[in-house]
Amino acid sequence: VNFLLLNGPNLNLLGKREPHIYGSQGLEDIVQILTKQARKAGIKLEHIQSNAEHELIDAIHRAMENCDFIIINPGAFTHTSVALRDALLGADLPFIEVHLSNVHAREAFRQHSYLSDIAKGVICGLGAQGYEFALQAAIRYCQNDS
Ligand code: DQA
Repeated sequence: VNFLLLNGPNLNLLGKREPHIYGSQGLEDIVQILTKQARKAGIKLEHIQSNAEHELIDAIHRAMENCDFIIINPGAFTHTSVALRDALLGADLPFIEVHLSNVHAREAFRQHSYLSDIAKGVICGLGAQGYEFALQAAIRYCQNDS
């Protein structure tokens, strides 16, 4: 079983970037925890962080080859990208949308997502833990699926 973890723009700055909103944990730490969590469940987790929309889209296209589930924090592309939505629709892979912050408690422009209505689920406002919960849910989803 293969999962893809995708992180969008500015998430490479986690730990340094507005820590009062996004927490003090760096992305590498988060990825390490998730990779271990996945390995325990017999799942290979690939991680890609990119600040470029086309790289995220290309990664979703490649995922069509061998990936069973996508966990994605699209960063600001959440609120802007029809292209990312179309890529996920085209790939037709189940995915969970994750946000560290509670986007609903922030600026109005963060309260619309181009992805939420086509996601299996959305987790927001729980910080880095949200990724762990998403992975747990994805594992369960794939177990019940097979
Ligand atoms: C974010 C929320 C987005 O609104 C923002 O643009 C981000 C991070 C989050 O994880 O809380 O870059 O996706």
